[in-house]
Amino acid sequence: MVGKKIQAPKGVSEYMPPRSDVFEFVRQALIDPARRAGYSLMELPVFEDTELFTRGVGASTDVVSKEMYTFTDRGDRSITLRPEGTAGVMRAVIEHGLDRGPLPVKVWYSGAFFRAERPQAGRYRQFYQVGIEAIGLDDPAIDAEVIAIADAGFKAIGLTKYRLDLTSLGDAESRAAHRKDLVTYIATLDFDEATAARAAINPLRLFDDKREEMQTAMAKAPLLMDYLSDSSRAHFDQVKKYLDALGISYVLNPHMVRGLDYYTGTTFEFVHELLGAQSGIGGGGRYDGLMAELGGQELSGIGFGLGIDRAVLAAEAEGVIASQEFVSDLMIIPLGELAKEQALKIAARLRHANKTVEIAFGDRALKGAMKAADKSGARYVVVLGDSEIASGHVELKQMNTGATASVRIDSLINEL
Ligand code: HAM
Repeated sequence: MVGKKIQAPKGVSEYMPPRSDVFEFVRQALIDPARRAGYSLMELPVFEDTELFTRGVGASTDVVSKEMYTFTDRGDRSITLRPEGTAGVMRAVIEHGLDRGPLPVKVWYSGAFFRAERPQAGRYRQFYQVGIEAIGLDDPAIDAEVIAIADAGFKAIGLTKYRLDLTSLGDAESRAAHRKDLVTYIATLDFDEATAARAAINPLRLFDDKREEMQTAMAKAPLLMDYLSDSSRAHFDQVKKYLDALGISYVLNPHMVRGLDYYTGTTFEFVHELLGAQSGIGGGGRYDGLMAELGGQELSGIGFGLGIDRAVLAAEAEGVIASQEFVSDLMIIPLGELAKEQALKIAARLRHANKTVEIAFGDRALKGAMKAADKSGARYVVVLGDSEIASGHVELKQMNTGATASVRIDSLINEL
């Protein structure tokens, strides 16, 4: 009996070869600048106590109110698949006492995140991020450095068609002053119960409402940017100054609304031009009250999350990744039993020297094996038979030109 085929759950992102090579290249390109800036890996669980997110990310957000994968485990605990990484990092920093060691704590992470969104191009229910967090330092220079690290990652992929949106959400004082006027303004509007409930928890969320009538209504609402306290403004001015010094251009966007509630002060988003509706390839900002909210010390923090899936789509849209980068250096075609054993030894030696080497196993006839080698895209091919082993020489064929050269097996490494 043949069983029915099983499909992946709706809306997950998956990467099959050869596209998975592009995914891994992009992931590494986004991680490397963080490592070079002294950030260390934090490897965290993909599921956490649900309360971490309701408290950390905020009950008024779409992420918490309707997109979490929450279930009760066998011990009757409410568990949620992580929708984002910052809350988990805070939890771990507090739990392991890193906040009592040298500051700032600088960590990076990478992995799968889960949001039960309506799937569409660039929006998945399981997706991948590279993120960093710098905790315990309130210096505007680190804001600029965090932004520069994200920018360096996108540049390393080869992306150019994106912009950086920047704003400041101010400190508690700024937001209290703004909230007062915003609530007064909102009271003059008329909307449904669900919207009113959202506004009551966090009136800023109304700026994020995509409905046209709401956008029109909110167009005249007071902007937080105009309520920044002196210290928030001074901090933000410094951040801009450092970005200018770094040659990183930005667009001031006082209408920016992030989907998570913890942001304070410097807040940013990288937006790609060719991705349509899901154009945010990364975003982040300060979250100065989050640590205390989660039971830790009053430490400030800043970080970002970059969407690996969307960075891959952006790279494909810009056509910046040559598949060339992922092919093997050499394909060895062994003819006969003795050759197979030799091929294993030669390949082991070359791989040890960091070459990517494949062996065409399967005892195929030479013609079929050559065809397969051609298809594999390997840069060079050698055929290894009894006479080659006896003479210690092989014909090294360069696949893109067809040129061949007789090379000593021992010195293959120099030729590749
Ligand atoms: P976020 O803006 O919610 O921020 O997500 C960061 C990035 O993840 C987005 O810019 C986007 O590229 C990608 N992303 C989000 N949702 C999806 C989805 N459903 N499908 C595909 N890609 C997606 C955060 O998660 C914050 N934790 C970032 C942060 C770190 N802020 C401070 N520290």
